[in-house]
Amino acid sequence: MKQKYIVGNWKMTLNKKDSLKLAEDIRSIEKKDNVSIEIAPTYLYLQDIIEILIDTDVSVISQNFDYESLGSFTGGISLTQLEEIGLSKTILGHSERRSKFNESNEMVDKKLEIVLNSNFDVIYCFDSYEQIPFDLIKNNLNSNSKLTLAYEPTWAIGTGETASVEHIVEIHSKVSSTLESLNIKDIPILYGGSVNPANSNQIIHANNVDGVLVGGASTNFDQLTGIINSI
Ligand code: PGA
Repeated sequence: MKQKYIVGNWKMTLNKKDSLKLAEDIRSIEKKDNVSIEIAPTYLYLQDIIEILIDTDVSVISQNFDYESLGSFTGGISLTQLEEIGLSKTILGHSERRSKFNESNEMVDKKLEIVLNSNFDVIYCFDSYEQIPFDLIKNNLNSNSKLTLAYEPTWAIGTGETASVEHIVEIHSKVSSTLESLNIKDIPILYGGSVNPANSNQIIHANNVDGVLVGGASTNFDQLTGIINSI
């Protein structure tokens, strides 16, 4: 089987007790060949969860980051600081950052340029083909930072309405052929939007789908393991 990715985005959903308990439970998940599991907890508990998962194959990643490295940016969290506590990968441009925190395409793309020129790997979320800055990607991609794309139609996020497999394949294939035409190789493309144990198998194994970015279901141990075991 080709490498598959299951990324759990815990957003701001869980309090400390539930976050740490879920991380403890995740320790019992057995490693599966060619399946990479990544969890993005809230910033506050990153360090605790890194320690809980330290000797497992589950990686801890960030939900977002701010532009600058260090300085007077109240409330900001930088790649430099995330790196200091052991992280090396982040999500970027999630639709909630765009819609609820007013991160415009320009802001997200500026961050994409920064992260592609850092040592961090990045999962860039987009909700339409047109949103992907292919030129920026082409001009900034280098071997220090691995890019993953995640198709997340806004209407499918947290709604229980999953995009059809045909629709997902159509978008992923379009993105994939554009990447190919630009000679950009090895970019995994994930799908996100109401993924659950009942639909994950079909989605994960669909053409041009390399994995799933999961919100709600990743905050529940049974559902998370249901998704992992569905592969
Ligand atoms: P959902 O969220 O799985 O709860 O729809 C997906 C996401 O926001 O990445």
